Amino acid sequence: MSSAVASAPGKLMLFGEHAVIYGYPCIVTAVDIRVTVLIRQLPANLVSISTPELPEPFEISVSGLVAANSLPAAVSFVGLAVRKFWEFTGHRFGVEVQTSDEFVDSSGLGSSSAVTVATIQALAALTGRELTNDQIFKLSFDTVLAAQRGRGSGFDVAAAVYGRTIYFQNRGEVIEPIEDIDLPLMTIYSGVKASTTQYVGHVATLYQQYRPHVERIFANIAAIVDDARQALRSGDWHELGQLMNFNQGYLQALGVSTEPLDVLVAFLRSNGAWGAKLSGAGGGDCVIGVVPPERQPDITALIKRSSGYSLIPAGLNADGVRLEPKIRNVQR
Ligand code: PMV
Repeated sequence: MSSAVASAPGKLMLFGEHAVIYGYPCIVTAVDIRVTVLIRQLPANLVSISTPELPEPFEISVSGLVAANSLPAAVSFVGLAVRKFWEFTGHRFGVEVQTSDEFVDSSGLGSSSAVTVATIQALAALTGRELTNDQIFKLSFDTVLAAQRGRGSGFDVAAAVYGRTIYFQNRGEVIEPIEDIDLPLMTIYSGVKASTTQYVGHVATLYQQYRPHVERIFANIAAIVDDARQALRSGDWHELGQLMNFNQGYLQALGVSTEPLDVLVAFLRSNGAWGAKLSGAGGGDCVIGVVPPERQPDITALIKRSSGYSLIPAGLNADGVRLEPKIRNVQR
């Protein structure tokens, strides 16, 4: 095959962020905002990567990519995925990679893990290999860890590979689908780009200084995650909202919520949400709320009138990574 196209979904963390890094469970849903990757085999000893962020393709020789200590941020996940795939197959070859995505800039919906997973799947198709989802998860998670200096629980990679809504624990030792849910969730972007590294570092420092307290917080978050799995299964949105509120309280205790996020959470609750919390590392990105459908139009109108916030129209339980019909060019 001379070219292949694959796409993978972004994600929203529903419950359990931060604790999941320490081996506790979380619940994540794949969203129908996707990254698409087109790969073509190149005859030459060349790797060329085009992304919407770069005005020109990034070009590097095959041997240069093998030896590179660092890559520009815009191409690091794709570049390292190509290198990981070469290691896996024991065969290096020139490729052209084009990525495109439907992501709202900086919303923290997991575009890095999605582009990594789609790249691995497209490379497999290009070289005529059928990888299992577990193989794609392993190669992609190793790539993401390499790009993020060992940081990350892998929940976002799992969402991109397996799709749907999943209960995830311990670097992928447990990945269990939760049957499709019709959760009345609203997702609001806070207008602030979060630094996952900063907030993961903050929690690590707190963990060192106050380990028994932080362990207790994590254990309580884990109990919330388990109850949330039940509430999701039974469609008990009132209960799920309450569990979100509890989870948000623990995230505040960990110091990862911020005033703007607290304001958004309070806004959702005072406008009829059953519950709300931040989603992700904290410090910014998105707030999610379980909102009765009849309250959603009012909230939508209020958000549209506000400055800085935006509603993210993310459908949940999206398909995991998949091959796509070939198109000439995936760039917008
Ligand atoms: O959504 P992000 O990439 O900001 O990550 C949030 C979840 C964390 O638990 C803080 C990090 C991780 O890798 O699990």
